[in-house]
Amino acid sequence: MRDATSRYARPLVAIHWLTLLFIAFNYLFSDAMSHAYRAIERGRSADITTAVQMHAYVGIGVLVLVALRVFLRVILGAPAAAESGNALMDMAAKAMHLALYALLFIVPLTGMATWYAGLKLGGLHQLSVNLIIFLAFAHAAAGLYHHYMLKDGLLRRMT
Ligand code: HEM
Ligand code: HEM
Repeated sequence: MRDATSRYARPLVAIHWLTLLFIAFNYLFSDAMSHAYRAIERGRSADITTAVQMHAYVGIGVLVLVALRVFLRVILGAPAAAESGNALMDMAAKAMHLALYALLFIVPLTGMATWYAGLKLGGLHQLSVNLIIFLAFAHAAAGLYHHYMLKDGLLRRMT
């Protein structure tokens, strides 16, 4: 069974939910950035509105948060990954967390490379955004399933 008494350290919990907020914001508000980028691609001058700057800064915020999170996780440690009793499911959970961490770096870095360095990585940016959203839903569904169906209190580890 899961060990519901061990929790992630407060700063790690705060960063987890702040990251979710930032990603949701940038996912919902990306039109201005896409529009500005399209104009630049066509050689026209782009309208760098507050919305465009927000997309860039909130996205860079995600990169800062994940770097801080990795650093704090090393310093503060994490609660022992509780065994579910099924080795395959434990491996899937670990792979899911690793994939989410990788995408937390890839999404902002591809955006920055496209916007600031002019590299043609807009497609990869969009693909990685869609992937992180898809995985986050699966990850959230797994968490809710544990908490409410298996009643093992899993969500308390991250609250
Ligand atoms: C980390 C969180 C981020 C999320 C969730 C995110 C999300 C998105 C989404 C949903 C789009 C629209 C894709 C479409 O039109 O289908 C987009 C486009 C874009 N984003 Fe981000 N973004 C993030 C970070 C960044 C950062 C840090 C930058 C640059 C500083 C950036 C630059 C861009 C650019 C240039 C485009 C247009 C790409 C294109 O149309 O080819 N993004 N982003
Ligand atoms: C963009 C959205 C999200 C991302 C990128 C994300 C990412 C992550 C990552 C990387 C971990 C592993 C933490 C570590 O061991 O260092 C984690 C853990 C966790 N997340 Fe999320 N998450 C997101 C959304 C959610 C949502 C919506 C929920 C709740 C429904 C949730 C609940 C949890 C829980 C309970 C854990 C701890 C799991 C455990 O200890 O086994 N996450 N998350």
